[in-house]
Amino acid sequence: MTVTISHNKPSIDENEEKAVAEVLKSKWIATGEKVKEFEKLISNYIGNHDSNAVAVSNGTTAIYLSLVALGVKPSDEVIMPTYVCSALLNAVNMLGAKPVITDVDYEDFNVSYNSLIEKINENTKAIIVPHLFGVPAEIHNLKELGIPIIEDCAQAIGSKIDSKSVGVFGKIAVFSFYATKMITTGQGGMVYSNDRSIIDNIRDYINFDCRTDYYPRFNFQMTDIQGALGIAQFGKLKDFLDKRKKIAETYQKICFQKGWDYQKPKSDIYLQNWYRFIIKGDTIFIQKLKTFLNDNEIKSIVPIERYELLHNYLKQSADDFENAELISQSTLSLPIYPDLVVDNLFEGILETLRRF
Ligand SMILES: Cc1ncc(COP(=O)(O)O)c(C=O)c1O
Repeated sequence: MTVTISHNKPSIDENEEKAVAEVLKSKWIATGEKVKEFEKLISNYIGNHDSNAVAVSNGTTAIYLSLVALGVKPSDEVIMPTYVCSALLNAVNMLGAKPVITDVDYEDFNVSYNSLIEKINENTKAIIVPHLFGVPAEIHNLKELGIPIIEDCAQAIGSKIDSKSVGVFGKIAVFSFYATKMITTGQGGMVYSNDRSIIDNIRDYINFDCRTDYYPRFNFQMTDIQGALGIAQFGKLKDFLDKRKKIAETYQKICFQKGWDYQKPKSDIYLQNWYRFIIKGDTIFIQKLKTFLNDNEIKSIVPIERYELLHNYLKQSADDFENAELISQSTLSLPIYPDLVVDNLFEGILETLRRF
């Protein structure tokens, strides 16, 4: 029987099963001590603080809450790149603010500085900067613009700039723990800030219960079931990073032998977590490679399709987004996740790629 190799898969074993079962047995299954412990772990890992992170229901709510914390109002503009998932657009639209879309750079797929500076005006209230597919964005230039930055680290836990974790450079950072992210809580998210008052405000906003004052608050909390899962996953983060790096280094060797290009950071100071390994090539090459892998029971995906580009959702002219248009039609994401090494599936992928 042939085994189909999936494009992505979470790594979950008896550690996670035990951690979740303990919470269920304790009967304290809503937000509690496990969430607190998970928040502390992430806060320390990102910024060496004990209590500068708050766990939330997912990465999209984390973005929405960051915008609220920055005081973004309906007439305000929020800048974001077109080559990213629509969660960013949705969060801005949920507030009734105006999304302003920029192009990205062809090399690292991250927000293009030149495209961005043209879009700044007196209404610009925030910039959302994703570290796309775990490749850190050039944040220092953007910081100099003096506009609050929300670092979108949904895919980037474990990535570093100048040996510091992504997430400490902007005003606020958001994380996602969706099933196929670097570490998972099924669904889930986190907001981190060096400014503790931002975290306190968000913590206040995500729990409506037993309040003496009133303003609209929402229930955007994480449960202890998720918290326990997160703690178990966080304990494996270093191992996950090592395994991903090992896979990526082998892919890099094949790319070198074959003369294939792939997504790269702009310089050595940007250390990526290898959330994805993305091959670049012309559209015909990409289609052929995808079909060949598929015929050999290996799933690969176009990471962001052309129709998903935010400017296309908003029906804006493609002329202003040349790089994103090109990237969406000339990239393929190969399987990269820790269980490929554990289950000995990686050899099969390598052998197939060598035959192509
Ligand atoms: C870059 C980026 N930002 C934000 C999100 C939203 O996270 P979530 O799926 O947890 O809402 C995602 C998730 O898919 C993402 O990839």
